[in-house]
Amino acid sequence: MKIVLIGFMGSGKTTVAKSLSKKLNLEVVEMDNLIIKESKRSNINEIFAKDGENYFRELEKQISKSLKNKDNVIISTGGGVVMNIINIKYLKNNGKIIFLKTGFLEISRRLKNIKDRPLFQDKKNVKKLFDSRQKLYEENSDLIINTDGKSVGKISYEIISQN
Ligand code: S3P
Repeated sequence: MKIVLIGFMGSGKTTVAKSLSKKLNLEVVEMDNLIIKESKRSNINEIFAKDGENYFRELEKQISKSLKNKDNVIISTGGGVVMNIINIKYLKNNGKIIFLKTGFLEISRRLKNIKDRPLFQDKKNVKKLFDSRQKLYEENSDLIINTDGKSVGKISYEIISQN
């Protein structure tokens, strides 16, 4: 079984992946962590600041490709993974793509004091980014789970019962 979680920054991919991993006894792969490791930087902010977003996207593509044949795993992606459709093709291979759909207000509330999301610091453009990505998440998912007002337990239960 392979479950791939997609959705905007702050939609709960990491937390839901951990919960699913316990319930289903599957390994979690956190793509951002693999990207950091590969970059030899210490965090995402540093990659964006020193190498630029394009380099980050290049590593994101390489990591997606390297995960193509991985099975028995929950993959937690970065919110921008859908910007490059080839990533989805690699990740989808034998897997189920699940969109954690969260409203913009809820996301803003969750990320208010969080500093390690370089693309969330640009407050003027972030709503535009959010809007432009919704369609991509929807079109590229096999299942959409609305997460607003739901606990992590309820979200993972919904995912498991629809798999
Ligand atoms: C990004 C989302 C981040 C991380 C990077 C870029 C994006 O991951 O990959 O900052 O483009 O939306 P999360 O979705 O885990 O915050």
